[in-house]
Amino acid sequence: MRKKIIAGNWKMNLNYAEAMAFADALVDAVDEKVSVEVVLAPPFVYLHDIVSRTQSSPFFGIAAQDCSAQLKGAFTGEVAAPMLSSIGIEFVLIGHSERRQYHNESGNLLAQKIDRALEADLIPIFCIGENKSERDLSSHFEIVSQQLKDSFFHLDPARVGECIIAYEPVWAIGTGVNASAGQAQEMHAFIRKEIGAKYDSSLAERISILYGGSVTPANAGDLFRCKDVDGALVGGASLKVADFISIIETMNSILTIA
Ligand code: PGA
Repeated sequence: MRKKIIAGNWKMNLNYAEAMAFADALVDAVDEKVSVEVVLAPPFVYLHDIVSRTQSSPFFGIAAQDCSAQLKGAFTGEVAAPMLSSIGIEFVLIGHSERRQYHNESGNLLAQKIDRALEADLIPIFCIGENKSERDLSSHFEIVSQQLKDSFFHLDPARVGECIIAYEPVWAIGTGVNASAGQAQEMHAFIRKEIGAKYDSSLAERISILYGGSVTPANAGDLFRCKDVDGALVGGASLKVADFISIIETMNSILTIA
C-alpha cells in the first residue's frame, strides 16, 4: 500500500512558544495506533527545536518549506538542502504556489531545487496545481502536465520513487473552497497516469499524491476515501491542534477500516 501522509504547512505563522506547544500537543496525541505518517513544515527558525521535540515519536517527519537551488556559498538569506538534512529534516516542500507566485519560482528553478533536495537525501514534496482562470478555461490538465515536464520528468526513475507529489489547485488554497472529491480524484488519477506514461505504471502506483487546498475536518473524509488521494497538505487547519489531529484521525480510521 502507498504511504499515507498528513502534512501540515504552517507557512509564516505561529510564534516560538506557540510552535513548541503545538509540537508537544501533537506528539502527545499521535500514538502507536496511528498508521499514517505526520509531517510538519514549520518556519525555518523553528526546525531544529521541532526536530528535537518530535524525534522520540516514529510517526513524525519534519519538512522545511523550501530549500535553495544552490549547494552553498554567497547566497544571502538562502538555506541549502544539506543544511536541512544535517539537522534531521527529512522532507522539503518544493514549488508551493506561494513560492511560485510571490518569488517567481520557475519550473527550471524548481527542477534544480528537487535535484538539490534528493542529493541531500531529503524527500521532496513537489507541489503542482492550476489557478482559477486555468481551471475556468479547462486547461488544468495541460497546466499540471507541463509542471511535471518542467520540474519533475528529468529525474531518473529511481529518484522519482523517492518523491511525493502534492496536487494543490491554487483556487482552493486558503479560500475555503476545496476541490470536490471528484475533482481531486480525477486530477490525482491523471497525475498518476502521466507519471506512468513517462516512467512505468508500477512506479506511478507507488508514489504518494497528496491533496492540498482548504482541507478541513469536515471535508477530509470524502477526499481521503478517493482511491488516488494518499493524504493531504494542510495549511490553515494545520494551525489548530484539534483540527489537525482530527484530520490525522480521519485518515487513520479510513486506513483501519480498509
Ligand atoms: P490551506 O493551504 O489548507 O490553507 O488551503 C494549503 C497549502 O497551501 O498547502
